[in-house]
Amino acid sequence: MMITGNVVELLMWVSSILCLICVSYGFDPVDHYLIDCGSPINTPVGDRVFVADNSDSNTLSTPQTISASTTQKPISSSNDSALYQTARILDGASRYTFPIRKPGRHWIRLHFFPFVYQNYNLSMAKFSVSVQNFILIKEFQVENGPQVKEYSLNLTYSNLTLTFIPSSKSFAFINALEVLSLPDDLIPEGARTIGPQDSYQIVSKKALETVARVNMGNNNKPVSPENDPLWRLWVSDDTFLIHNNLAKFVSNTKAVNFTRGGVAEYIAPSSVYGTVTMLNSEADPFMNANLTWRFVVDPGFEYLVRYHFCDIVSGSGNTLFFNVYINSMLVLANLDLSKLTSNILGAPYFMDVITRVNDSSKLNVSVGPSNVGNHWPNAILNGLEIMKISNAKSSLDALDSDLKKKSKMRVGVIVGLTIGMFTAVIVAMVLFLLCRRRTCAHINHVNNLENSVSSAQFSMGSVGDLAGISMSKVFAQLVREDVR
Ligand SMILES: *[C@@H]1O[C@H](CO)[C@@H](O)[C@H](O)[C@H]1NC(C)=O
Ligand SMILES: *[C@@H]1O[C@H](CO)[C@@H](O)[C@H](O)[C@H]1NC(C)=O
Ligand SMILES: *[C@@H]1O[C@H](CO)[C@@H](O)[C@H](O)[C@H]1NC(C)=O
Ligand SMILES: *[C@@H]1O[C@H](CO)[C@@H](O)[C@H](O)[C@H]1NC(C)=O
Ligand SMILES: *[C@@H]1O[C@H](CO)[C@@H](O)[C@H](O)[C@H]1NC(C)=O
Ligand SMILES: *[C@@H]1O[C@H](CO)[C@@H](O)[C@H](O)[C@H]1NC(C)=O
Ligand SMILES: *[C@@H]1O[C@H](CO)[C@@H](O)[C@H](O)[C@H]1NC(C)=O
Ligand SMILES: *[C@@H]1O[C@H](CO)[C@@H](O)[C@H](O)[C@H]1NC(C)=O
Repeated sequence: MMITGNVVELLMWVSSILCLICVSYGFDPVDHYLIDCGSPINTPVGDRVFVADNSDSNTLSTPQTISASTTQKPISSSNDSALYQTARILDGASRYTFPIRKPGRHWIRLHFFPFVYQNYNLSMAKFSVSVQNFILIKEFQVENGPQVKEYSLNLTYSNLTLTFIPSSKSFAFINALEVLSLPDDLIPEGARTIGPQDSYQIVSKKALETVARVNMGNNNKPVSPENDPLWRLWVSDDTFLIHNNLAKFVSNTKAVNFTRGGVAEYIAPSSVYGTVTMLNSEADPFMNANLTWRFVVDPGFEYLVRYHFCDIVSGSGNTLFFNVYINSMLVLANLDLSKLTSNILGAPYFMDVITRVNDSSKLNVSVGPSNVGNHWPNAILNGLEIMKISNAKSSLDALDSDLKKKSKMRVGVIVGLTIGMFTAVIVAMVLFLLCRRRTCAHINHVNNLENSVSSAQFSMGSVGDLAGISMSKVFAQLVREDVR
């Protein structure tokens, strides 16, 4: 009995130590599939191993497949170039199936690097990818690479099925893929919507696509997947910043203080919260300007935007107040990080909003000083994530944008109207000529001539009326479409 007790105690002790190791090491996803497609051997990348997909025939179901390889090395900012030496070419509709043990949000990362293999030029491949009922990409072509596409889905199924469908007379390919479960609180169930009317929107049943993941203030250096607890790549903000003469980059990673009960380190690592782009207002205590980052997006979609903040620049609390904007709309006035982080200087904070991009292919994110109090003007941003939200057609592809339907509708209406009017004119002319011929036959009867002219007028009038009716119907339809 004693021995058993001791063994149990020992086991508990060992497991708690293991648990501690797990916690300090970071997040360990329940579902974690890493596949190096078309590779005959497993490929280590940092501390992870991507397995060869030919060893596990349960995962892939395909009518015809070719394992392709290249010696060409891609120019990559990460250490993952080994993944791009092989690809799986899929000739025909193919499926990758993964058993899912933990329901909830998962990431799906698709790695593409086109190269030429025998008769296959992967740059010419054109295909669609879908997951369950969501369309991720349509008629997709990768001209150059490497390119990583990242999606997140809230899975309620016991299997995840990733379907590749080549366009006609083409084929599909994939170099590597990742499927992993996410911490439950990483992606919110919903967020405040910024627009003409403020509202709240639930996104838990939507698919998301990562459009941008940016680390501010890191001077042209990315935070690589190896240095992120969830293997994310954070690119530098330099290329997105407009008027960068207004900006100052500051790095102070030691000042980041992840507190118990506060923002978890997997939300974004200290390498992201520890660098900041701030307004360069040192020379001018009356400076009033915004820092703006501009991103290219597909119009006709809603976007979930996450702002990451951490005050690593102030010497004391309650001295930094600023405004936050999205597409020139106010998100928050007089943001006071001290208040939001219980006066712990250096505690990270993040904020999610949703906005719709209607007609521009640009999304602007700005921060600017607020006029509250008598403080030195400043404004900061540490990190930013932009995620596209799947639309009513359960699609994330620009070909399925809500605007596409409308513009097609408009073109349809214009073509319809033109054809309608053209037909009306032709019919009227034919009627007029017919009537004139009849008049010629009865050239001696002046009375008949008068009658015919009036009947021709009548005919033209009725044709016009008919055209008018159909035109007004079309207009009504157009208006209805616009209201929708
Ligand atoms: C590549 O891996 C090495 C060793 O793990 C690491 O020191 C280096 O920062 C990595 N480089 C990039 C660009 O991630
Ligand atoms: C492969 O296709 C791309 C894009 O169409 C083209 O630019 C490239 O020259 C092709 N390469 C070869 C070797 O045919
Ligand atoms: C999940 O996939 C496995 C293996 O392909 C299959 O045996 C099982 O029936 C699937 N389950 C569901 C619910 O589709
Ligand atoms: C976009 O257009 C829709 C309707 O066409 C409108 O309800 C919405 O407020 C617009 N959003 C923005 C951000 O302008
Ligand atoms: C995922 O979906 C389930 C069921 O619809 C829901 O209960 C859960 O809150 C969702 N999770 C997230 C992170 O949205
Ligand atoms: C982080 O904040 C806590 C709570 O205020 C504080 O006790 C701790 O000393 C801080 N840690 C560092 C490294 O500043
Ligand atoms: C985005 O910023 C640019 C430059 O400041 C500006 O011209 C444009 O109007 C802005 N777009 C929106 C939607 O606010
Ligand atoms: C900052 O941007 C907002 C939103 O576009 C605008 O209302 C405000 O006037 C700008 N401030 C300055 C100083 O340009």
